Amino acid sequence: MSDTEFDRKPQKDARRGPPILSCYDDLAGSCAYGWSMLERGVKDRKSAFHTPSVATVTADGSPTIRTVVLRSCDSAAKSLRFHTDTRSGKIAELKQNPMAAMHFYDAGAKVQLRLAVRLACLDGDAYDAAWAATRPMSRECYQVMQSPGSQIDDPYGVTFDPQATKDGEDHFVPVVAHVLRMEWLYLAAKGHRRALFDFEADTQSWLVP
Ligand SMILES: Cc1cc2nc3c(=O)[nH]c(=O)nc-3n(C[C@H](O)[C@H](O)[C@H](O)COP(=O)(O)O)c2cc1C
Repeated sequence: MSDTEFDRKPQKDARRGPPILSCYDDLAGSCAYGWSMLERGVKDRKSAFHTPSVATVTADGSPTIRTVVLRSCDSAAKSLRFHTDTRSGKIAELKQNPMAAMHFYDAGAKVQLRLAVRLACLDGDAYDAAWAATRPMSRECYQVMQSPGSQIDDPYGVTFDPQATKDGEDHFVPVVAHVLRMEWLYLAAKGHRRALFDFEADTQSWLVP
């Protein structure tokens, strides 16, 4: 296999390499498999899908991207959730422009998902449930007194105050990503498979890889 596997022509003898996914030629099955990988990504900390990249657009129109932890997946509602700090750049960006992208790649499974999403901050019961489920260790990062990303002279000068931040709740925000489209890419020796699932238009199609 080449370094990236993508730049391979379909192989006549495809017996080499890992077993082919059962959804290889199954369009709806590929979509379902993608969602099952996202669901597993929430529960399995070792899964590559546990830490996706989320891309937003800054006020000057530039793209920016960062890693987050995937906290929940609702395949019926077509939504994902991650947590962040209310003062972070991504929150300012999603308030300006909620359209974002998420990227997942599992090198073992040879599956890449590219999601077009609309981001929104959760409130009410959904907020309360997400906060209640956070572990003490996770809460600590929201107890930081200086805004994340602000300049400091001394890295030891960062202060954390559970009292002043209500244990961190003051700065905690769960973000829902409504999945509008999912692009599936499966790298396989006998020929790659690529597909687009549009959940708004309720359409699905194979694409040229
Ligand atoms: C493995 C890993 C997991 C991370 N998980 C999160 C997360 O769940 N939420 C978060 O806000 N930042 C997380 N970060 C930090 C972000 O990637 C980013 O540096 C930070 O949120 C600031 O991003 P922003 O200024 O673009 O908002 C994680 C970083 C890594 C490397």
